[in-house]
Amino acid sequence: MDKKLLIKKALEAKEKAYSPYSGFKVGAALLTKSGKIFTGCNIENASYTPTICAERTAIAKAVSDGEREIVAIAITGDSEWTYPCGVCRQVIREFGNNAIIIITKSEEEYREYTLSELFPYSFGPEDLK
Ligand code: THU
Repeated sequence: MDKKLLIKKALEAKEKAYSPYSGFKVGAALLTKSGKIFTGCNIENASYTPTICAERTAIAKAVSDGEREIVAIAITGDSEWTYPCGVCRQVIREFGNNAIIIITKSEEEYREYTLSELFPYSFGPEDLK
């Protein structure tokens, strides 16, 4: 897996953020099992609640293109280390239970986690079987 490429794509995606209300930009880039990369940024709304996070933008793009297995996702935002919100952790759980989460500050500085480190004892598709 080309982590540096994924990180670069997340940093680039961040620049596309539409966040006039918070002023906070987030970018994400995910790698699917078949080797495709999908990117996303946060997209805010004047009515606030329709806002979608960068991670979920990227996941919606992947899934709507038929890609349901996330191998890794790189995330970057305007805070020093931007971690995914709880809702995004739950959505990553659906399509990337074994995913590597890469929290990136720059192309050189990043931290890696498994989803279960960031989201232990989670509820998922297996619970409904
Ligand atoms: N945001 C994300 O895009 N991803 C996260 O995981 C955390 C929050 C966005 C949503 C909103 O546009 C802005 O950051 C401030 O909350």
